[in-house]
Amino acid sequence: MSVSINYHIRPGGTLRGHFRVPGDKSISHRALMIGAIARGETRISGFLQGEDTRATLAALRAMGVAFDQQGENVRVHGVGLYGLQHPAAPLDLGNSGTSTRLLAGLLAAQPFDCELIGDASLMKRPMRRVIEPLRQMQADISGTAEGTLPIRIHGGRKLKAIDYVLPVASAQLKSCLLLAGLYADGTTCVHEPFPTRDHTERMLRHFGGRLTSKENTVCITGGSELRAADITVPADISSAAFFMAGACMCSGADITLEDVGVNPARTGIIRILRAMGADISLSNERTVSGEPVADIRVRSAPLRGIEIPVELVPSAIDEFPAILVAAATAQGRTVLRGAAELRVKESDRILAVTEGLKAVGIECSAREDGMEVHGGRITGGTVNSFTDHRIAMAFAMAGLAATEPIIVQDCANVNTSFPGFVNLARQAGLPIEQQARDGD
Ligand code: S3P
Repeated sequence: MSVSINYHIRPGGTLRGHFRVPGDKSISHRALMIGAIARGETRISGFLQGEDTRATLAALRAMGVAFDQQGENVRVHGVGLYGLQHPAAPLDLGNSGTSTRLLAGLLAAQPFDCELIGDASLMKRPMRRVIEPLRQMQADISGTAEGTLPIRIHGGRKLKAIDYVLPVASAQLKSCLLLAGLYADGTTCVHEPFPTRDHTERMLRHFGGRLTSKENTVCITGGSELRAADITVPADISSAAFFMAGACMCSGADITLEDVGVNPARTGIIRILRAMGADISLSNERTVSGEPVADIRVRSAPLRGIEIPVELVPSAIDEFPAILVAAATAQGRTVLRGAAELRVKESDRILAVTEGLKAVGIECSAREDGMEVHGGRITGGTVNSFTDHRIAMAFAMAGLAATEPIIVQDCANVNTSFPGFVNLARQAGLPIEQQARDGD
């Protein structure tokens, strides 16, 4: 029997204080994977203990990698590029697209066979985008006729380098090919239509990988070993995003989010909210384990609707649920275009946000690659999260601007990226309770 979790948010809260959200999900996944195939012991601090990163850890453990974990500190006993072992059962990656697509690249190059599976949401997500280029690299890999999981890989193939133009701006796809490229004969080059998060590139360099990059192209030369290195994971800007949007939506807010990763390929939310009139300032800017980090202060300020510049979309791709809920409180119309990728995230986020906003009294309309939100007054109501963690957290924050209570349904997957969300949000001033019910 599964447990279904609903959030109940009373109107009238505001956000105040200094706090730190959990570690960055993208960087935590990469630290585990790259640490696993490096030689020596990698120590990770600030690791995200979410269900998604746990799925990566369990998969690597099933392939013979030893980990010692104490809370946010993880020690990875790297096995070297050629030390992974055949897993006894299919690797279940739960809800995690990042685990699946990055591991597909890593596993395409191994001497053993394996199978990748996941939960109901992950089993529907598009995988052809990784299968096709990996086949061009000579991998023996297949998915279903629809291009979905399960993915089956027959190992023992010698991969060959390719030069590949990404058909979508996807850091997961780019990272998949760079990890496969580590094992390929020659130099693999990936060209992106727009820059996407470059955590894989930064971390591979941190571990001694041979990469070159120029404009929107990154190349990796296969065959050289990686050396273990320590990683301090910054707080996740994608989790900070809910508090940033929340502070913009209510009066009297003043929050400082500490140690947040501000990689330029992730800061679209700051640029978009500022263009809408938000009061956001950065301090204590520094570089930690090759990644830019800062404290982010957000104070209440009235928002106005904007046309979101298309070139900012990849750098805010995970933050649109939060941004679009904030847009519901802005004066005027906000238009998002060029974001068709939102349809194939943990849920169809264009559909989920549109339905959620309508349920709380906001006028909006969906289009194939985006949506239009008419700023107004959030009333209250019941929102379906479509089991998507980011939809659940974005609509929890809508309570800050609501005139009546909001109920958000099916919030258990918040644990994939943000364990402790409800407690932290409550401490910060959001009047939120969670109720668990036995499901079927
Ligand atoms: C991620 C890349 C993005 C993002 C996801 C994490 C990563 O996905 O939405 O949450 O860690 O590389 P796409 O590569 O599909 O854009």
